[in-house]
Amino acid sequence: MGSSSGEAVLERHAAVKWVVGGVIVGVSLLGLYSSSYNLWPFGNRRRRNKRPIRVYMDGCFDMMHYGHCNALRQARALGDQLIVGVVSDAEIIANKGPPVTPLHERLIMVNAVKWVDEVIPEAPYAITEEFMKKLFDEYNIDYIIHGDDPCVLPDGTDAYAHAKKAGRYKQIKRTEGVSSTDIVGRMLLCVRERTITDSHNHSSLQRQFSNGRGQKFEDGVVASGTRVSHFLPTSRRIVQFSNGRSPGPDARIVYIDGAFDLFHAGHVEILRLARDRGDFLLVGIHTDQTVSATRGLHRPIMNLHERSLSVLACRYVDEVIIGAPWEVSRDMITTFNISLVVHGTTAENTDFQKEQSNPYAVPISMGIFQILDSSLDITTTTIIRRIVSNHEAYQKRNEKKGESEKNYYEGKTHVTGD
Ligand SMILES: *[C@@H]1O[C@H](CO)[C@@H](O)[C@H](O)[C@H]1NC(C)=O
Ligand SMILES: *[C@@H]1O[C@H](CO)[C@@H](O)[C@H](O)[C@H]1NC(C)=O
Repeated sequence: MGSSSGEAVLERHAAVKWVVGGVIVGVSLLGLYSSSYNLWPFGNRRRRNKRPIRVYMDGCFDMMHYGHCNALRQARALGDQLIVGVVSDAEIIANKGPPVTPLHERLIMVNAVKWVDEVIPEAPYAITEEFMKKLFDEYNIDYIIHGDDPCVLPDGTDAYAHAKKAGRYKQIKRTEGVSSTDIVGRMLLCVRERTITDSHNHSSLQRQFSNGRGQKFEDGVVASGTRVSHFLPTSRRIVQFSNGRSPGPDARIVYIDGAFDLFHAGHVEILRLARDRGDFLLVGIHTDQTVSATRGLHRPIMNLHERSLSVLACRYVDEVIIGAPWEVSRDMITTFNISLVVHGTTAENTDFQKEQSNPYAVPISMGIFQILDSSLDITTTTIIRRIVSNHEAYQKRNEKKGESEKNYYEGKTHVTGD
């Protein structure tokens, strides 16, 4: 990104200076070139020859989380356009077992990430020489990007060997703190704990792992490594994820709130619909305490910071409130100049209208509340159910993967990058 946009700025700068420094010449040349604009020596022509740097990254993006989003952000920073290959269901099944999220949902998720420019569906699991050629020739890819963790194929070879040999490989630093294995581990634990009720103190245990902090069960059973979250929320990461934009002077601000736990395709769809209702979408993310109190003690699976990053990475979101109040107050509506408060039909707390204290009572009384028809019937519970129904298979797969992740963390040395 740096070099090309930097040069573009320089070019523009040079053109301005030149015109200012030689008014007469400038004017005559402007007249000359106005009919054939492409010949303009400082602007379009050179930039047209200098095509944008296109970088490619692939992945399964199963149970997509902010770690994936951060990888995509880093990849995008190595070029001007990011093209993402999403591995097909069949290839995932063949290489690592059934995915939790089917391809069409994974595509919705990847397309919604604000750093993604194009998506190639049904990408192969390994970049073969043939597919690499296709990437270079058909998709005009300049570089293939991958994290600093090794990606070994079943036959023991490096999945990116071809790209490396061709000198078209670039590496990014793996995002600390979360992996799909870790998240699946948190969910499985939540299921396991619910089946061994009496011997444990539920609420405290569940709170422990939902915040990703627990080390041991109270009865001395050592938790599997997958349960420990390495996530360290830094302000820098939040800044990197945020748009840093405030609403324009006449912007119509739409507000939507929720838990946004295990950010999924259903969330993406409702955020897209919400953003369509105005010019600026403000998303309120409920605190861990609020989510536990309303959805059950084993929720949320992802903590407030993790949930905030996932929502911030979504292209339809302009701003988030990290830890939004349960009730939408008049004060809040005034403070943020909210024009419309929306809520999805497939959200998990649809009983709110029956509740004694309706959290939307104020916007309803002001006539600025609207229910949006969610087109995708997916909730966080759907995702957890999918995992649970494949409990055994995932546990096996998870133990194997957890082991290699443990090795990664144990053998890890500092890698520069962000
Ligand atoms: C768990 O701990 C809380 C508070 O420490 C207590 O009120 C509750 O009864 C305990 N639950 C069980 C199942 O032991
Ligand atoms: C508040 O929002 C409305 C649009 O709903 C806009 O016309 C108005 O200018 C905004 N007020 C301020 C102070 O930005």
